[in-house]
Amino acid sequence: MGYKAKFKVWRGDASGGDLQDFTVEVNEGEVVLDVIHRLQATQAPDMAVRWNCKAGKCGSCSAEINGRPRLMCMTRMSVFAEDETVTVTPMRTFPVIRDLVTDVSYNYEKAREVPAFAPPEGVAPGEYRMQQVDVERSQEFRKCIECFLCQNTCHVVRDHEDNKANFSGPRFLMRIAELDMHPLDAHENRAQEAKTDHGLGFCNITKCCTEVCPEHIKITDNALIPMKERVADHYYDPILRLFKRSKK
Ligand code: SF4
Ligand code: SF4
Ligand code: FES
Repeated sequence: MGYKAKFKVWRGDASGGDLQDFTVEVNEGEVVLDVIHRLQATQAPDMAVRWNCKAGKCGSCSAEINGRPRLMCMTRMSVFAEDETVTVTPMRTFPVIRDLVTDVSYNYEKAREVPAFAPPEGVAPGEYRMQQVDVERSQEFRKCIECFLCQNTCHVVRDHEDNKANFSGPRFLMRIAELDMHPLDAHENRAQEAKTDHGLGFCNITKCCTEVCPEHIKITDNALIPMKERVADHYYDPILRLFKRSKK
């Protein structure tokens, strides 16, 4: 059975904006993105929204719904009471382009700063061999759809714009962890770079990134905390330091 829902949607651009009220039809089985599309079709044809797959896989439709960072296409209207006002705002951590669309360039810049997988010399693709346990470890991180909800939520950049220059955020610290744990990666300094170039020390393992990840990746437990341990080993393990010194 359909009903009329009350929506507040942020409209505006980089120069400013505010919440606009709408009353809009909702049908059984719909998600928030369906309702935004109905608003575009019936009341606000110029409303800007980024989306692509409507299946929780492209990572485009990230927004904040009643203050919680979520994918619009994976947020069922049935989670809200029929008389509840649903408020949709753009991700707060990134600059607004227009309405619900933000400029997520920060993330692509950080992605480019992570050195790529470095295969070992003399081993051709197809000859790589690794244990199943190592395959499974990186497969968890590979589920990432780059929705950037974790980046948007992390207080290190959400509340402190200045930190963006020195902090790559959970998604890219997880990428560094994935590569550092990869048994065939020959790039030597990932732990050191995580600390000096990507700001791992800013992370105080609050787990807020993990809580919003639509792929349920255990970002903090499986990537960030192990990476911190690897950094501690790199800098403070006396046996490892002795070993490294003997290699020089
Ligand atoms: S665990 Fe670290 S990266 Fe994740 S939200 Fe908290 S401070 Fe940010
Ligand atoms: S780790 Fe999760 S929340 Fe972060 S970008 Fe990937 S899928 Fe999105
Ligand atoms: S539209 Fe692709 S994740 Fe929502």
